This record gives sequence, structure tokens and C-alpha cells, in this order.
Amino acid sequence: MTAEYQVHGDVAVITLNNPPVNGLGFATRVGITDGLGKANADAVVKSIIITGAGKAFSGGADIKEFGSPKALQEPNLLSVILAVENSAKPVVAAMHSVCMGGGLELALGCHYRIAAPGCSVALPEVKLGLIPGAGGTQRLPRVLGAEVAMNMMVSGEPIKSDMLAMLPGQKLFDKMAKSPDTLTEEALAFAKSVADARPLPLVRNLPCKHPLGDAYFQFARNMVTGMSKNFPAPVKNVDIVEIATQKKFDEGMAAEREIFIALMQTPESKALRHIFVADRAASKIPDVPADTPQRAINSVAIIGAGTMGGGISMNFLNAGIPVKMLEMKQEALDRGIATIRKNYESQVTKGKLKQDKYEQRMSQLTTTLNYDDLKDADMVIEAVFEEMGVKEKVFKELDRVMKPGAILASNTSTLDVNKIASFTKRPQDVVGMHFFSPANVMKLLEVVRGEKTAKDVLATVMGVAKKIKKTAVVSGVCDGFIGNRMVEQYGRQGGFLLDEGCTPAQVDKAIEKFGFAMGPFRMGDLAGNDIGWAIRKRRVVEKPDMIYSKTADLLCEMGRFGQKTGAGWYDYVAGKRDAIPNADVVKMIEAHRKAKGITPRKVSDEEIVQRLVYSLVNEAARILEEGIASKASDIDMVYLMGYGFPIYRGGPMNYADQVGLFNVVQSMKRFALNPLDDAKFWAPAPLLAKLAAEGKTFN
Ligand code: NAI
Repeated sequence: MTAEYQVHGDVAVITLNNPPVNGLGFATRVGITDGLGKANADAVVKSIIITGAGKAFSGGADIKEFGSPKALQEPNLLSVILAVENSAKPVVAAMHSVCMGGGLELALGCHYRIAAPGCSVALPEVKLGLIPGAGGTQRLPRVLGAEVAMNMMVSGEPIKSDMLAMLPGQKLFDKMAKSPDTLTEEALAFAKSVADARPLPLVRNLPCKHPLGDAYFQFARNMVTGMSKNFPAPVKNVDIVEIATQKKFDEGMAAEREIFIALMQTPESKALRHIFVADRAASKIPDVPADTPQRAINSVAIIGAGTMGGGISMNFLNAGIPVKMLEMKQEALDRGIATIRKNYESQVTKGKLKQDKYEQRMSQLTTTLNYDDLKDADMVIEAVFEEMGVKEKVFKELDRVMKPGAILASNTSTLDVNKIASFTKRPQDVVGMHFFSPANVMKLLEVVRGEKTAKDVLATVMGVAKKIKKTAVVSGVCDGFIGNRMVEQYGRQGGFLLDEGCTPAQVDKAIEKFGFAMGPFRMGDLAGNDIGWAIRKRRVVEKPDMIYSKTADLLCEMGRFGQKTGAGWYDYVAGKRDAIPNADVVKMIEAHRKAKGITPRKVSDEEIVQRLVYSLVNEAARILEEGIASKASDIDMVYLMGYGFPIYRGGPMNYADQVGLFNVVQSMKRFALNPLDDAKFWAPAPLLAKLAAEGKTFN
């Protein structure tokens, strides 16, 4: 049962009970209409309360029904709200904690509303590329005014009930309860007080106007359009509020329906809904049940105070978890601490961090040169040089000193986590935690599951990731894990495109127009071209038959390592990040073509985008097939959170699904015929070929 029915004296109480946030799924909707039916048929009952059990009034739609026909199955939310409006006895919404989306629309359909202070109120549909679809667009402006309602709908952000209650003339709340604890009691008294009120007030009957009319909405539209390029929904939220001020309620409802249905079909909304579900799915590991016990992590040790060690430490300090950093030399510790201080101080200067918070965080940071000082830490994360020999020394020391049950994590970006685990007598406690640089900023965390990593270690690390506000995705052990393994193929395609006739700027511009935050060459300059160079030197030994463009090696031979040397694929002016094309680099590429006997050709932007994106897709299909990633949506999250893939395209797998896997495979077959490309690579991964042949999708 997902809605409970009880009668207290002459008041019926319908309590939504569908944890965690009382989502308005089918069974809950039936519960509400059943309750209304019973209450109206019971002569003893004079008024009705709708409220929510636990941590919410209602968070809105039930994500389990997302996009499925069940969401529309009668009674759908519109019908439920109509039943509430049509109740012969007054219906009071008693709102607390969370009242969002469909939950707020339901409350707006009630005759009266009483709210507890501290209740988060929102219509967040814009975040899924939509407008509210159950009357919220027409009712919220009637109770809060067009301007406030429009701001709430365009931003999707929650506002506390106490703040809304202070708005002059607001009609959202008929009464504010003194506290969440007294809400039930006050709602009962309020329901009794309105038992005989007739006619029953309906939000739909309230007037809705904006004093400036057209001019105001035109202004709002211009602002919102400028701020939300690539996303159609925000401006539609402006339009529908304007309609509320111009048309009759029922006409507004018809317009809401029409726009809602049209937005549901847009690739942008599909992408945003996919990400919403993918984000929640990422923390679920198929063979690790949700109730797997987690180890307590109340203190963390970090080995290495370099670029990554410092950033990783900040994540834990920000979350209030004490950190002890270990280095080989005091100078290295001093440098590491100074960098952390500088980072925090810049946040203080920008007003993003309060001075006392900064001091509090720094007070939780201690340092040592002695492994024995780490023995009490619940978790240790190693971020030393990327060399197996160094990792071996470190993990042998950790195995010696760490208490039993401590989690031993490595931030390695390329090395074999199984091998690292084998340096200890407790491989079950060893796991990879691959942060991205800058580690205190980037949202992505690849959690690398070794062959022997214990399930409770994985569950704990996923829990820790949440505490430090990272999007964690589990990857199996392979070279590059999910993200870097894919990016290597993407980079290789970038190189082939140069060989064939493109300039770095042309490639970057094409993929940036597609929506990437940065093209492959600007990205190389940011990360340091020498890193890829080192990897390729290793690769040519491991895979002597690997084909790749030598242009990147030639660039490094010119000493152009990227932003850090002021010159890479582009030139950089100190203190600025603008990429300025460089004539010598273009000459180097031309000379390389000549030496290889290549006649350059004009490559279309469309081909550039397809080759770069499909190289990701094909490698991802192999990653999926090998079980390195457990679901396609995890790969999307890696690319969205760690590699600047455009949000409104929902990640490489979602994008491929939308293009159609058959079409993707056809393009790959065409690329395989290009003598300057890698035909072997473009053979579609078996999983991709199979899905395409069956007309299926990844997700
Ligand atoms: P870094 O060179 O900035 O820092 C490494 C630090 O480790 C240095 O301060 C060094 O003194 C210290 N160190 C070396 N050996 C040590 C030992 N035996 N005991 C204690 N401290 C020791 O290197 P970075 O960039 O921070 O990389 C560290 C690790 O993180 C590497 O495994 C790297 O592959 C990985 N990583 C790096 C990323 C990046 O973008 N820089 C991204 C993700 C992972």
C-alpha cells in the first residue's frame, strides 16, 4: 500500500507512503483516489487531509515509472488532481520537508494548503528538459504571481516555504504551521475549521495577470534564450507562464499539454532524463546488494602531496573528514600544504568560502614522514609517482602498518590494480580510486574493482564517493579503465584527421560546435602532451603494429608540451587560456604529410564529429562486452562528468542510440575503407554489430 487512509474524528487523512520521497507512482495515485472516494462516501467525515509519510510530502513523479506507459495509466496525475478539485468535501494539503514537481501540482489542486517551515518547494521539470505537466504551469502563477512562478520554473530550484510565505499577497499557503512537529495537529485543526466552508476555493479560479504584460515576457524570453542555448525547455517555461496570464485556465491547460508532449520528444529532454536515471543507476553494482554493510570511514590518509594528493585531500577536508598526508621529504609536504592553502584562500577571496570554515578545514589536515603514523586511518589513498616499483614500495609499507580492515586505495591512472593488490597480504581491501584533475573540482571518480576487491570495500567506496560529492562509476581492471581507454581512440582519430588534411583548430572547432567543452587538441594542451607521448612510447613496445599519426610525437619533439610550456598545438599567453593557432605547428603537420606522400583533402565537420564520437562508441562497446563497465549508462556518466561530453546529448552511448546503431555501424564500415585510417579498429565491436542488426539500443 503506498497511500494510507485513516479517520481522526471527522477528518480523513490520506498519507502518501511510497519511500523514499512518496513518488506519485500508479499505486500511490490509486491510493489517493480510493481515499477520496471513501472520505466522500463516509457521512462522519467532514474534511480531508493529504500529507506524506517520512521525509517528504511528495518529491513528484515516481522515477521507477519514468517514461514508461505506467506513468500515464489512469488515474494519471491530471485525473487525480481533478478528483481532488471535484471532492465535495474540502481537501487540505499538509506539506512538509519536500514538495516538488507533481507533489506541488497535487497540493495546488487541493482547496487549501498548510505548510511546515523548512519545506523545499519546487517545480524542477526544466532540469529534465520539460515544463510541469499536471497544471503547475497554470496554477503556480495564480498563487505566487507570474514573475516568482516563472523564476521557479525556469531555474527549477527549490525555495523554502518560509521564504515563500513572506511574499506579499501569496496564496500558495493558507496557513504556516509553527514547526514540522506540530504540522499534523495544526492541519487537523485547520481542516476542522474549513469543514463547512462553501463554495470550496479552487486555484484555477484565481486571476492571473502581469502588470507589464507583453514587454515583461519579451524581456524574460530574451534573457532566458541567451542563457540556455542548446536547451529548449527554459524558454518554453517562460512561454507557458505568459499563456497563463493571457488565456482562460482550460486553454492554458491545453497549451501546457501540447508543449509538454512536444518537449518529451526532444533529444535534449531524452538526454536529461537519461542522465537523471543513469546518475542514480551508477551507484548500483549488479552483484553488490544495496544493503551490503559499509566500513566506517572517519579518517583518511593520503600518500603523496603532489597535484593529485592535494586535490584529493581537499575533497575529504571539505566533507569534514580529517586527513593525514605522507611524503618522502618535508619540503614536498610544505609545497603540498601551500598549494592547498592557496586554493582555499582563493575561494575565500572570491567569497565562496568563509574564513572560519577555511581555518576549520586546515585544522583537520596533518602531515607525517613516517608510515607508522598512519596506522589508525580507516582508509588510505595512494597518489605517488606512476611507476610500479614506487607503488610496490608504498603498498608493502601500507600492508605493514595499516590496521586490519582499513581500505587501501590507489589513484593510479594506468597501472594494473590487481598487481598493486598483490603487493599486500590483503588484496580484498585494495581498490582503485581514479580521481580526475583537478581532483577537488572534477565530479568523476572511477572506482576500479580488482579481481579480489571485497564487496563491502566497493560498497564503502561508493558511499565515501557520495560523501565527497563525486559521481562514482565502477570500472574493471584494464589499461586506461573506462574513460582513458576510450579517449586514447578518440585522440588517435584526431591524429588521423591531421594527417588527412585538417588543422588542429578545424578539428577542435567542429567537435566544440557539436557541444564538447574542448576539442582533442586543446584538451591535449591542457593535460600536457608529454603524458600521451609517454604512453605512446610504452604502447609501441607492447603493440608494435599500432597505427597512429606521428604528429603528436613531432610536436613533443619541438618541446611543445601544452599550456604548462606556453606552447602546444596552440600558443598561450601567460595567465590566459585562449588557444592561438601557431604557424609552425601547421607547417610541421604539412611536412609530415609530404613525407608520408599524403595529398591533403578537405574533411567535412560532419566527418570529423562522426569519427571522433564513433571511435568512443566502438571502444565503449568493447568495454561493455568485456564487462569492464557493467552498463552503458555508466559509460555515459564517465564521459559527461569527466570528459566534457555535451550534457544535452546524454553521453556517447545515449547519442549513438539516438542516431540509431544501424546508422553508426554503416558509418564505421565507411571509415574502415579509408586507407589512412585504422580499418581493424573500425570493425564494429561484436556487441555493437549485434545490437545494430537486431534494431536494439545500448541503453
Ligand atoms: P605528482 O608528481 O604531482 O605527485 C606525486 C607525489 O608523490 C610527489 O609529491 C612525490 O614527492 C610523492 N611521492 C613519490 N614517491 C613517493 C613515496 N614513495 N612516498 C611518498 N610520496 C611519494 O603526481 P600526480 O600528478 O599527483 O600523480 C599521482 C598519481 O595520480 C599517479 O599515479 C598518477 O598516474 C595519478 N593520476 C594523475 C592524474 C593527473 O592528471 N595528474 C589524474 C589521475 C590520476
